[in-house]
Amino acid sequence: MFVRLSQVQRKAFNFRFQARLFSRASFSTPINPARRSTAIAAGIGGASLGIYLHFNNTVYSDAADEGLHATSYPWEHNSPFSTFDHASIRRGYQVYQEVCAACHSLDRIAFRNLVGVSHTEDEAKALAEAIEVEDGPNDIGDMFQRPGKLSDYLPRPYPNEEAARAANAGAYPPDLSLIVKGRHGGGDYIFALLTGYYDPPPGVEVKEGLYYNPYFPGGSIAMARALYDGIVEYEDGTPATTSQMAKDVVTFLSWASEPEHDERKKLGLKAVTILSGLFFISIWLKRFKWAPLKNRKIVYNPPK
Ligand code: HEC
Repeated sequence: MFVRLSQVQRKAFNFRFQARLFSRASFSTPINPARRSTAIAAGIGGASLGIYLHFNNTVYSDAADEGLHATSYPWEHNSPFSTFDHASIRRGYQVYQEVCAACHSLDRIAFRNLVGVSHTEDEAKALAEAIEVEDGPNDIGDMFQRPGKLSDYLPRPYPNEEAARAANAGAYPPDLSLIVKGRHGGGDYIFALLTGYYDPPPGVEVKEGLYYNPYFPGGSIAMARALYDGIVEYEDGTPATTSQMAKDVVTFLSWASEPEHDERKKLGLKAVTILSGLFFISIWLKRFKWAPLKNRKIVYNPPK
């Protein structure tokens, strides 16, 4: 006759079976002593390396290779509550246009972006109309030239990278749209670079076609000094010194790399104000709702 295991017996059997499996896995496999010492050695090695790296903070740094570290300048737009200095953006646009645009493109900025930032709509239209843009094809399939519109992007000085390199002794003048974001030190670095041309100190060799600038990594840059006192004439009468022009062009390039900056800070301030208000209201509401529960008194009257 077929005997069925009772529920209890079956459980007991399962338990014994599992216990056997468990004991076999943990006790009957001997640990290889060689493996154990390797693991211990790796553990000690890793821990000592960690401690060494934690306490040894001498970092190799060479001003000639890394470039001199730029000073930190008090930019108007650095504070969490301030906007860009828009008069400076306007002057910076003029410096970019009259000096830097000969070699550097600014691909991400269109004339319409200047409206309400540094120029009025009519002024920006007039700036755009001063350039010729290739458009087309027309009805018979030909490309044609037309005056620029607000929707056109700022023109490039060279049609392609090869032409730019050929005109600059093999060096490529990078696009300046995001250069403030793209360089360690941002605006401080670019200001220092533009105002940092000196005679090479004794013993420093600068190759033909390069210029000594301690802020540029390596110390020799293929861009000649671009700013000299008085090379532009500001319409607002600001004296166009080298450092003034460098400050203005850096403010302009900081705006170009982050046009949403002013809006972002304004929105951030509103959000922080509203959310902190709501936070305190929510604390008050929580206390209000919990008050009857927190204040209640539970009394136990044992039966007599
Ligand atoms: C005559 C052409 C020319 C003019 C004018 C010029 N640049 Fe340059 N610029 C170059 C070249 C070429 C390079 C590449 C240098 C290199 O890689 O050694 C360069 C590089 C740069 C760099 C990048 C440096 C880096 O860290 O890689 C910045 C920023 C810059 N220029 C800003 C400006 C600004 C701002 C102006 C206007 C005030 C300006 N340049 C005017 C040719 C020019």
